[in-house]
Amino acid sequence: MMSKVTVLNHPLIDHKMSQVRDKHTNTKAFRETVSEIGALITYEITRDFKTTPKTIETPMAVMTAHELEKPVVIVPILRAGLGMVDGIHNIIPNAKIGHIGLYRDEETLEPKAYYQKFPKSITNSVVLVVDPMLATGGSASYAIDILKKQGVLDIRYVGLVGCPEGIQRLQKDHPDVSIYLAALDEKLDENGYIVPGLGDCGDRLFGTK
Ligand code: PRP
Ligand code: URA
Repeated sequence: MMSKVTVLNHPLIDHKMSQVRDKHTNTKAFRETVSEIGALITYEITRDFKTTPKTIETPMAVMTAHELEKPVVIVPILRAGLGMVDGIHNIIPNAKIGHIGLYRDEETLEPKAYYQKFPKSITNSVVLVVDPMLATGGSASYAIDILKKQGVLDIRYVGLVGCPEGIQRLQKDHPDVSIYLAALDEKLDENGYIVPGLGDCGDRLFGTK
């Protein structure tokens, strides 16, 4: 089995991606637009979510409505994953939020873990691992290792920009995890940055450079 890759192909997402990619976009606009793209992607990520019937009463009649079957947990990889959380959470307000802190060693590009905290209900939830940049794929793969060790069975990766190297790594390490991206770029440069990409997402979100 090979993980499914969905690259959102939508004019509104393309339009917003052109704003976040542009190096002249300021921190405020960058942060707001990343969050908006998070909201728009959520529509596609949830397309095959299972629902259960529920009898409700409208003001007019009794009817069978449908509710999401499983709870949802959003797990951003710190820092940059935080930028997409509000957008997703606005669309799935009942979702709980876990956190995984990782940074990429600038020399080896290996992920280093420094924090993790999850809601108790995580094992029977659908977990959305959120990180805007799928570069070498090392951070996403490591975060998913951590979640699987917690016993999570249903995991989806959500990002803004990916590249072939990151997708291959994630498919090899976690073939059961579906991948959702706003855009798929050409390659990684020699420093492990996605080209054309959008630069350092954490720095652009938080104004640290
Ligand atoms: C960036 C990005 C991803 C990671 C992607 O984080 O947010 O987590 O790199 O690269 P990879 O696919 O090669 O692992 P960074 O290490 O810069 O940390 P930050 O989010 O705290 O800035
Ligand atoms: N992390 C980023 O923030 N940007 C990249 O292009 C690669 C990793």
